[in-house]
Amino acid sequence: MHALWLLAAAAASRALRCTAQPGPAAAAPGPSTRRIPDRLLFNHRVNLLKRPKRDRDRAANVRRTIGLVHGVSEVQFLDDDECSTLIASTHSQRLASYFDEEPIGMYKSDICRLAQLAAGGYYLDTDLEVLRDFRTTLPEEVDFVSVIAFQWIGPKNPNEMYNAFIGAAAGHPVVRRAMDMCLEYYDGRNRTLVTALGEHMRGTMLMRMAYEEWAGEEMASGPQVRPPSGLSYFWDEERLNQDVYPDVVPQEGEGTNCNVAVVDRSQQVALFFSHSVGRTTSCRPRGSGISASRSSAEL
Ligand SMILES: *[C@@H]1O[C@H](CO)[C@@H](O)[C@H](O)[C@H]1NC(C)=O
Repeated sequence: MHALWLLAAAAASRALRCTAQPGPAAAAPGPSTRRIPDRLLFNHRVNLLKRPKRDRDRAANVRRTIGLVHGVSEVQFLDDDECSTLIASTHSQRLASYFDEEPIGMYKSDICRLAQLAAGGYYLDTDLEVLRDFRTTLPEEVDFVSVIAFQWIGPKNPNEMYNAFIGAAAGHPVVRRAMDMCLEYYDGRNRTLVTALGEHMRGTMLMRMAYEEWAGEEMASGPQVRPPSGLSYFWDEERLNQDVYPDVVPQEGEGTNCNVAVVDRSQQVALFFSHSVGRTTSCRPRGSGISASRSSAEL
């Protein structure tokens, strides 16, 4: 009886959420009205949901993320083989072959996330530490969302897109164009791309170029109206400023990548830590004796 009532109550609240009018400001996430589908997308060399022992810290972080983002229709976690298959069916066998041959994991992941995003959803790096359900600060009309990266390399380098987090509606032109550019880069057909990316398929640079080519202007913080009907949105990566975000408990870790946050500046809300504390992330557990000097390679 009790269980039945719970089921009925859950069904009723689902029905309510589906028919509720969009609220004025940050309405509760309703799966039916958002342009970006409520799918959570992850990838890694191995499936950390099935094989958490392969990297306990990242596996725990992913499980935490899934627990914080409610009412998702699908959690997709792909390993390398599944990524390759999806890239082939979503784009081309040729791009899948480049994926197979790419030796560096983070660049492999840059390609795979595009194939995952082609069907729409939110992609998150396995070491992105989610602080809250990020959808609540996004207007429902948003069909593309990502982050303007902190200037890591130097003041002369333009900001890249922090592609550890990307949300996109199904079939978004930026995702499609980025996959095409990816193939052009590996083929060596496009000098502009080869020069801009250098010796690696840097997804952060590629995504920025794909976005700016499509938008016809630079990435900018906050909501960006994209005619005819689109709305893009950018958050900012910055060092955690506790005066502005006093409710955020700082990370206890070692490394320059600790306590770098992703924030919505216009709403003054902190959404993520760029890197969770972990033995294989660029923010190491304090006193672990593991050097974080590899960190720059993981950006
Ligand atoms: C090379 O890529 C750039 C950036 O996406 C694009 O603007 C240009 O048209 C491409 N050139 C060729 C020859 O495809």
